[in-house]
Amino acid sequence: MRFPEFSMERMQSTWEHRVKYDLSESGLEALTLEDAVRDLDALRTERLGYANGMGRDQTRALVAAFHPEATRDNVLITTGTSEANFLALATLVEPGDEVVIVMPSYMQLHGIARGLGAKVKEVWLREEWGWRIDLDALRAAVTPRTKVVCICNPNNPTGQLLTAAEVLDVATIVEGQGGWLLADEVYRGAERVAPETATFYGHHDRIIVTGGLSKAYGLPGLRIGWIVAPPERIAATWAMKDYTTIAPATLSELLAEIALARREQLLKRARYLLNERWPILESWAAAHAQELHWVAPAAGAICFFGYSFPIESAEFVDRLIKEWGTMVVPGAHFNAERHLRIGFGMPTRTLRGGLEAIDRALVALAD
Ligand SMILES: Cc1ncc(COP(=O)(O)O)c(C=O)c1O
Repeated sequence: MRFPEFSMERMQSTWEHRVKYDLSESGLEALTLEDAVRDLDALRTERLGYANGMGRDQTRALVAAFHPEATRDNVLITTGTSEANFLALATLVEPGDEVVIVMPSYMQLHGIARGLGAKVKEVWLREEWGWRIDLDALRAAVTPRTKVVCICNPNNPTGQLLTAAEVLDVATIVEGQGGWLLADEVYRGAERVAPETATFYGHHDRIIVTGGLSKAYGLPGLRIGWIVAPPERIAATWAMKDYTTIAPATLSELLAEIALARREQLLKRARYLLNERWPILESWAAAHAQELHWVAPAAGAICFFGYSFPIESAEFVDRLIKEWGTMVVPGAHFNAERHLRIGFGMPTRTLRGGLEAIDRALVALAD
């Protein structure tokens, strides 16, 4: 197995603690430990042994609660959505299998599929439709040879989401050809205006949903995620997890349980922050309307801008990082050149500072 470089994560891992203004993040300003746990004293006597490999019954039940038709037997707790995605795909795909990926997308599943020796077919959301899904293109791409269709909803990097009717259409298309559907729903709950995005879970019995606490909940440092799937997939992914992380981090899972019990409150916080900070990015973009085009994000603290500056995205971001101490994500990392993904979930001072730095970089570029 040889995995291709995961360009965006490589860039972020290298620079996120070194740049002054990190606008590459897609989640919301993280909670402090005190914000996350009211009664810290209650944790003092917790024994830090191995946690249950599947996750605790209570944590799994809390996750099942927002996936209609799921029970805790359909849930495996993982180390981040990243591990959930890895286990879900690695237990399904074999060399030579065909995997359809709805693009643009967070490139993890794309890279894992290629690393596993699969043949990847891309079906692109249509930018000219405001990054909506082209159901006819999906219908044409999915065949009886398709092992898995991977979709990220709400979508990273575009911040757009499928309607409940589109979720059903996509599920039906995949079901009709007999393959699996793997839906990464880590941005579910981070809607700016719309009601909570419909989950894919439960539409038919070959659906696997992944998610985690890193985005809407503001708790990426806990590294807690989950897989929601039929019991046979839970058994297969749990067995592979014996080779990856064995069990969730005990303390993280305890904190996750507290967070999931306050889900409504944390999702309200997410909505508040998204609506507080999007106007800052939007008014910056409006001042560049000649050179930028975009669709306002429906979910997630990210906007995907097309641009007409005379420079390729990776080169621009490299200069932005090294000369201006500011990081955004180049479209090249999503196979979408002449685009930039800019986050807006960070503290407003960082957001404003980063946008001013981009302005200075653009002036330098024009000189
Ligand atoms: C679509 C998507 N899936 C998974 C992840 C990784 O999530 P986690 O931090 O829960 O591992 C990210 C992080 O940016 C993401 O955007």
